[in-house]
Formats: sequence, C-alpha cells, structure tokens
Amino acid sequence: MKIQILSDEMASRIAAGEVVERPASVVKELIENSLDAGATEIFVWIEKSGSALIRVTDDGGGMAPDDLALAVERHATSKLKSAEDLFCIATLGFRGEALPSIGSVSRMEIVSRSPDAPSGHRLRVEGGRKGELQMAAAGFGTTIEIRDIFFNTPARRKFLKAPATELSHICDVVNRMALAYPQVHLRLQHDGRNVADYPAVKERKDRFFQVLGREVANELIPFSWSGGEMAASGFVSAAPMSFPNARYLYTFVNRRYVRDKVLTHAVLQGYDTLLMKGQYPAVLLLLEVPFGEVDVNVHPAKYEVRFRRQGDVHEAVTTAIRGALKREAKTPSARNGGLEQSPFAGVREAPLLYPLHSPPGHEPTVLRQGALSIPMTEKGDLFQAGFFSSLELHGQILGCYLVCSSARGLVLIDQHAAHERVAFEKLRGDLNSGTGQTQNLLIPQPLDLGAGEIALLEKELPLLQRFGYLVEAVGPDSYAVTAVPAFLPEGDYRRALRQMIAELAEVDHSDKVRQHLEERLATIACHSVIRANRKLEMDEMRALLGALDQIEFATQCPHGRPVLLEFSRDELDRLFKRVV
Ligand SMILES: Nc1ncnc2c1ncn2[C@@H]1O[C@H](COP(=O)(O)OP(=O)(O)O)[C@@H](O)[C@H]1O
Ligand SMILES: [Mg+2]
Repeated sequence: MKIQILSDEMASRIAAGEVVERPASVVKELIENSLDAGATEIFVWIEKSGSALIRVTDDGGGMAPDDLALAVERHATSKLKSAEDLFCIATLGFRGEALPSIGSVSRMEIVSRSPDAPSGHRLRVEGGRKGELQMAAAGFGTTIEIRDIFFNTPARRKFLKAPATELSHICDVVNRMALAYPQVHLRLQHDGRNVADYPAVKERKDRFFQVLGREVANELIPFSWSGGEMAASGFVSAAPMSFPNARYLYTFVNRRYVRDKVLTHAVLQGYDTLLMKGQYPAVLLLLEVPFGEVDVNVHPAKYEVRFRRQGDVHEAVTTAIRGALKREAKTPSARNGGLEQSPFAGVREAPLLYPLHSPPGHEPTVLRQGALSIPMTEKGDLFQAGFFSSLELHGQILGCYLVCSSARGLVLIDQHAAHERVAFEKLRGDLNSGTGQTQNLLIPQPLDLGAGEIALLEKELPLLQRFGYLVEAVGPDSYAVTAVPAFLPEGDYRRALRQMIAELAEVDHSDKVRQHLEERLATIACHSVIRANRKLEMDEMRALLGALDQIEFATQCPHGRPVLLEFSRDELDRLFKRVV
C-alpha cells in the first residue's frame, strides 16, 4: 500500500461530509450566515424536502464582489482576524467552511449585493468547481440557491431519509433559529406552501407562541437569572407537562443552539424529583456567558461547546431552573398574569390533560391544571402558605379522595399521591439531616442476591444505612434486612433494596448519585405508603393536610401526579351551566 495525498476535490468532499450531513445542515449554515450578516428577514424556500432546491434569501449586509469570489474558498471567512479571536467568538460562523463544503456537493449559486455596491454579483459553484463572477440585478442582501444536493456523492444521497423526515429536520433547524432570534422574520416554504412564518416580535414569549403553539407555550413559565458574568433566561414547563425525549428541551449558549450533556443534565437536575424517570420537560434555556468562557470550536457543525468552568455553568443552570419552578409552585398566577399581555391571549384555548365528558365548549379548564400551578384562580390569587391547613375538610370518598373546600371552591385531594409526597419528603429530609429513625424487623427478611449484587451491596451498606435500612450478613454470602425506616409502614423491602442496588450499579458521579438516590427514594416512598384504599379518620386527614403544608412542591407526588384539583366557583357554575 502506497500513501498518496488526496486531490483537493476529494479532500473537500471529505471535509464537506462533516458539515453537510443532510439538507437541514445546509439550511442551518445558510441561516447562520444570514444572521451573522445582520439580516432582519430570512426566507427559506425548499423544494422536495431540500433535495431539489434550497434557497435562502436575506436582507443582510451582502458581499462586495471581491468578497463574494473569496467566500466560496476553503477557510475563507470575514469573521476571524487573529488567532486570539478563536477563543472569543461572537458570530455563529467562523470556520470558513460552510460555503465551500456546500459548493463541493451541490450546484450552488450566490447572488449578493452590499448596500454601497451599484449592482449585485452572481457566482456559481458546481461540484466544487467555481465559475466566473458576473454582474447581476439584485436587491440588497444575499440569495443562495443550492440545487441537487449530493448529486456528485450518490453514496451520501442514499443516506437521506424519507422526504418527510428530511423536511422535519429542516423545520427543527428553522424553529431553533427562530427561538433564538425573535427579532428576525423567518419564513419557511416547502413546495410553494408556507410551513412556518414567524414575523419579527419584540418579546421572546411571543416567538415561543409562534413556534411551539399555544398548547405547549401556554404551560410555560418565564424565568431569568443572573450571577457574575453569567445569565440564564427562558421558559420552563411545570412538571406535569413532560415528554419521553428531549425534543422540547432547547438549550442555547450565546444564542447558538447546542446539544450539551452538561446543560441537559443541569436542567434535569433543576427539576430534581419533579419528573418521572425518562421524562423530559419543555424548556427554553438561553445561557449567556462571556465569549471567552466557551469554546465553540469543538464540533464541525458547531452543535457542541466546551465550557471553561463547567461546574459553574452547571450550577447556574440548575439554580435558575429550580428557582423558576419554586416560584411557580408558590405563585401560579404569575404565569397566567403574563399571558394576559400576550397578543394571543384572546384566542387562548384550554388543552385538556384529563379529559372529562362535558359538552363541547364547556370543558372545565381547571382539569388541565393537574399541576404545580394549583391552586390557580382566574383572579390570580397567590398560593398562600398554610393553604392545605386552611381548607375546610368535609370527609373522604371512595376510600382515596379527600373532599375539601377552599375560599374559592371545591378542592379534591388524592390521598395516595399526598401520602407519597409526604413520605418522600420525610425520607429525603431524614437523609439530609441524618436523623432518620429505624425500626427493627421482628423477622429479618433474607436478601437473595447474585454475586455482582453482593459486591455492590457490601460497598453501599453505609449508604443504605443512612436511608434507614440495616442489612446484615447472616451467613457466608447471605444477607438479610434487619431494620427499615420507621415511618414506612409495611412494604416489600427486599424488592426496594434490590432496586436500589441496581440503581447504584449505574451511577458513578457524585452529583448523579444524589439525583438517582432521590428518584429511588421517590419510588420507595410510592411503593411503601398506603397503596390500598383505606378509610382515614378526620384526625389523620388533618395531619396529612398539615404535613402537605410543610413541604415544597406539595401539589404533586414524586412521580408527577397531581395531589389536588381545585374547582373554583366559576368553574362549578360553568359545569352546571349557570353561566355562559
Ligand atoms: N448571507 C451572507 N451575507 C453576507 N455575507 C455572507 C453570507 N454568507 C456568507 N457570507 C460571507 O462568506 C464568508 C464565508 O461563509 P462561510 O463559508 O459560511 O464561513 P463562516 O460563516 O464560517 O465565515 C463569511 O465569512 C461571510 O463573510
Ligand atoms: Mg457560515
């Protein structure tokens, strides 16, 4: 085998592979260029999901003819001047690779005109071969057309997914850009049809409504946090609105959309135990850090970044998210109040999370608030401290619901969810303070563990003990549970411990341990407290209400189920059709 140097053309195509993975990558690079050029309107026109044509038109600063000729050369950029700049990047682009890469795998035509130029110019690049610069009639700004993407790299073309999939990737790109740049008018048209049209708006919230639609956006709570040189702002969803993947978890660093493990982890940690395992919230996180604090030159498509002070960033994000959720738990009305000012408030609909059979148009809106946000009233009263104790208790029905009334109306409390919440909180509190009481079991419960599990168990005995679980060796390689947390009534401890051990096998990082443990705790709590319906005495119910007042986020159980539902007078009236 002889070594040979690749031809420029081959080298370009290989390099292009990193930047141009699919039509959506082209759309992303072109929109980034338009934004860097200061555009206020960016129109994207797509044919056949981008495989036939991608045209991006902007009203940005354009390019002078000489610059246009250079722009399509490899490593040609107007955005970096010196080596130091590389560590302080304020633009979306900087690698000087997008245009040459795109040009090497498509038929590209650029028409551009800068404000001081008497006319525009056109430049074509086909499969990497650059044409002559020509004069062209053009308005100010730049239009770039990409036809027949991957026409000369059939292998790559084969990797394209179904047209609908490619189109959805393009939509994702446009949506992300739109979220970060609300002041820019973005439009996406596909085969002559408007797919998205987001006129410029002043408020980020309004862009959120445009992009995510009312149903999701209505449920979001704004937040903003700043500390030192860092700032984080955006929107979070109250916990009951969660998704099985991170699709609605948008993270931006200095307005650049990134997929970053640290940020995602920090966001989820902010939610702490409010989300079920494997569930993700809807979050828009806009993190602002000094340009010198973040290295954006670690991924060819710039989807990843590296933070100089990763720990600080993590903590900032967790704090910001947690703060927002806490505030929401206390003042649910802040969210509603905000919505009234939105231009869309007039056409607000009430998506029903818990559908009820009622005539169309008469859905009790309260039912969708199975949430942190409860109690929420139309007048927007605050959630008072001592709310639960202030309720008038009428009794229990169906062995599992407490019926109460508040100053506003009817309140139903799910006794199981409430118990879970209380037990969970107690366990967590005990763990933090180390004051948990244990109770010896009359008959120790033997644990039937495999070799690997035993090794883990032995390692984690002290930790389990902090939880209140005493596990002792009762023979060679055999253990038994001899004591358990005192306040947990009868439960399947063996199973619980097994799960804990399995969980502990997966964790490495200390932060993670805490989080996982708390999730475990949640599970333990949920599985250990009263599961069957049980008649409660008035005193027991009062004690439960009192206990709920002692805890944060009391309005939902550790698994995210609502603890209470409130029906205001208005809502009751509406259900009875007393008002229209
Ligand atoms: N839409 C546009 N408007 C004005 N200038 C542009 C536009 N697109 C590209 N350019 C110019 O072409 C150069 C090369 O673009 P590109 O290959 O994407 O590299 P980069 O964005 O990393 O600089 C940019 O630095 C910019 O000067
Ligand atoms: Mg670029």
